[in-house]
Amino acid sequence: MSMLAPAGEGRSPRVFVDATFGAGGHTRAILERLPDASVVALDADPEAIARGRALAELYPGRLFLHHVNFAHLDAALASAGESGIDGILYDLGLSSLQLADPQRGFSFGAAEDAPLDMRLDPTSGQATASDLLQRLSEADLEAALRTYGDERHARAIARAIVKRRDRIRSWTSRELVAAVMSAQPRGRRRSRIHPATRTFQALRMLVNDDLSNLERSLDIAVRRLRPGGRAVVISFHSGEDRVVKRRFAAFARMGLATLVTRKPLRPSPREVAANPRSRSAKLRALARPQALQEGEDAV
Ligand SMILES: C[S@@+](CC[C@H](N)C(=O)[O-])C[C@H]1O[C@@H](n2cnc3c(N)ncnc32)[C@H](O)[C@@H]1O
Repeated sequence: MSMLAPAGEGRSPRVFVDATFGAGGHTRAILERLPDASVVALDADPEAIARGRALAELYPGRLFLHHVNFAHLDAALASAGESGIDGILYDLGLSSLQLADPQRGFSFGAAEDAPLDMRLDPTSGQATASDLLQRLSEADLEAALRTYGDERHARAIARAIVKRRDRIRSWTSRELVAAVMSAQPRGRRRSRIHPATRTFQALRMLVNDDLSNLERSLDIAVRRLRPGGRAVVISFHSGEDRVVKRRFAAFARMGLATLVTRKPLRPSPREVAANPRSRSAKLRALARPQALQEGEDAV
């Protein structure tokens, strides 16, 4: 919270954007701790937005929920009637609710078998993970597994997927796990994570075009911040952190922002003990300069 809205700074009333509403934990914290603030909350997942209605009722006139991808931040702000903002927060990835819902196809485990959908927004008409597994060439699958999953066995897994797909009309999580397991080298050393983890992650990022959407959204956000306003990004994946690091450095070079964090902040051992998911989290923040140069209209 202190990263997004440092104590004693900023005008009142302030407007914040929670670009990744999820279960609403961050939005709730802003609304509770900053009584002058309102929040425009976005999520690509219609279920997250529907669940948020109860929170909006607790804070009348202060929480505005939008079912939209954060790549369309401009349209969301226009429909909320806001031109400039005092802060924006991204807490990337999936919520525990999405991971826990077997029907979404994001997770896998011995007991689970679900259609491989993986769209953040199942109403979007985009291709599902199953569609992409059926349609992409072996080379494209291999490239995606490497780029989004840092998967060492990308070639063997891509080959195993292509080999199986003639027999499959529609992929399920169990079939994908079986393809990944069949591509593991014999006698491989046991690792801390399940062998299919990186493949599932890569596929989810591919289906939702995560890196491009993040880049597009950051480019809009930095120009919408009012003087002194901040953008904070929490990422859990090296590819996402790389996008944030590069865009933030470019904004600093262009004089659009100053870096609040030169190196990403990592969680303390106590935070990791309380929330194991935070283990791989990296937080970066930037601030819009107090005095904007001519032609840099943020508001
Ligand atoms: C880690 S959860 C956020 C948790 C939230 N901060 C909380 O306190 O409950 C990430 C959320 O961001 C959403 N999301 C991910 N990428 C998105 C995008 N490009 N546009 C909008 N929402 C997105 C997901 O649907 C998910 O609900």
